[in-house]
Amino acid sequence: MAAIINGKEISKQIKDELKEKVSKMKASGVEPCLAVVLVGEDPASQVYVKNKKNACEYIGIKSLSYELPESTSEEELLKLVDELNKNDEVNGILVQLPLPKQIDEDKIIRAISPDKDVDGFHPESVGRLSIGEKGFKSCTPAGIIELLKRSNIEIDGKECVIIGRSNIVGKPMGMLMLRENATVTICHSHTKNIKEVCKRADILIVAIGKREMIDASYVKEGATVIDVGMHRKEDGHLTGDVDFESVIPVCSAYTPVPGGVGPMTIAMLMNNCVESVER
Ligand code: GUN
Repeated sequence: MAAIINGKEISKQIKDELKEKVSKMKASGVEPCLAVVLVGEDPASQVYVKNKKNACEYIGIKSLSYELPESTSEEELLKLVDELNKNDEVNGILVQLPLPKQIDEDKIIRAISPDKDVDGFHPESVGRLSIGEKGFKSCTPAGIIELLKRSNIEIDGKECVIIGRSNIVGKPMGMLMLRENATVTICHSHTKNIKEVCKRADILIVAIGKREMIDASYVKEGATVIDVGMHRKEDGHLTGDVDFESVIPVCSAYTPVPGGVGPMTIAMLMNNCVESVER
């Protein structure tokens, strides 16, 4: 029977560990503070931002909330980021993506000080990750590493196949798995014989954004399958990029959707925020 990797439980453990750390920090007179910036009224972004603020409250991190209208200009947002960069009270800055079309996301990401880049999206953070230097790690890939380690799933020397090459998940995931001494392959839309490549994987990480695309024909017997996808079905339930009814009889462990990778992203954001203070 395949084991369920319980992201909800593991993220709770991490948040409880952080809560203890923050309480000690506060006793010594330091209060971590995250600035959360939301532009516009995208319903999914509103939910994500609310969950992030709730996590801050649970752990004891102060959160400053900036909710700006859809019509906000790039200049106005850059001005706010600049103020937050200069504000000594603020340890971390989170600008929720996507941004309205008149704002260049890349410009905003680059404007955030690398010292406060708790999302780990700044080119300096990405570069540091790539050469194994200390820096903020992109939250979803860092959360997946924690899920594997805390579930005692060996990474060192294993074949890891990642499907998807986004800047936020696929690429940093590859770098982090490499740091853990896995042999890494990243597949994408131009990859030939994708099933054969996936079937080599001891750890298969799926981040393609296509609902239930990966079935048992992509999975080696006994593999661990990590699903980064999130889709809402017609009946309102959530599902991922993996067709688990098909995959569960073949794999040895898997992350469910919901309750797998999702809760870990927020836990690792909180971890980055606490790390930002420790530096
Ligand atoms: N939008 C979707 N996921 C994320 C995330 O991890 N960080 C930010 N800033 N925006 C997002």
